[in-house]
Amino acid sequence: MSLQLGDIAPDFTAESTLGTIRFHEYLGTSWGVLFSHPADFTPVCTTELGRTAGLQEEFEKRNVKVLALSVDPLDKHFEWIKDINETQHVTVGFPILANPDKSIANAYGMIHPNASETFTVRSLFIIGPDKKIKLTITYPASTGRNFVEVLRVIDSLQLTANFSVATPANWVNGEDVIVVPAVKTEDALIKFPKGLKIVKPYLRYTPQPND
Ligand code: BEZ
Repeated sequence: MSLQLGDIAPDFTAESTLGTIRFHEYLGTSWGVLFSHPADFTPVCTTELGRTAGLQEEFEKRNVKVLALSVDPLDKHFEWIKDINETQHVTVGFPILANPDKSIANAYGMIHPNASETFTVRSLFIIGPDKKIKLTITYPASTGRNFVEVLRVIDSLQLTANFSVATPANWVNGEDVIVVPAVKTEDALIKFPKGLKIVKPYLRYTPQPND
């Protein structure tokens, strides 16, 4: 059965472009983004890793450690990083995990045999400081992911983790959030001193509590 939200992200030890990584130990108290790409020296992957490197500061601001993975070996990763840095005008500062025996790819269900018997698809896992899986997304090889959306989801997940709020459709950081149904309105009035906008008893907005 595939990994599901709330499951503990499988721990592993792997070689990476930044040395040996013991996953849970490496994450420490940070959030994590673990994402797979089909292969090194492919065009869409090159842009994805470049975009992620360009957003490194944004990930750091949110206390998130990013790790990429493909089933290619380490020597190939090192060669490819030179191309990514050159063509995407970045410096890749996050680790790319080598997984030639596919052990991590299999543990995380990153190989979808009906898409490819051998390569990982574009799987992405967001992992909380409790090492539990908070979000999974799966894209086909031909579609590059939107890493600004990944940051947006992290903002939402971190708000939910720290306050009793959820985020509405298309929400972006700074906009009003939704009070979760478990909080009674009389309690919400105290908990959210910036005020409530009650549209329906079950649809209550409040300004972002951490702004
Ligand atoms: C790419 O990363 O460019 C790619 C990989 C596999 C299939 C199609 C595109």
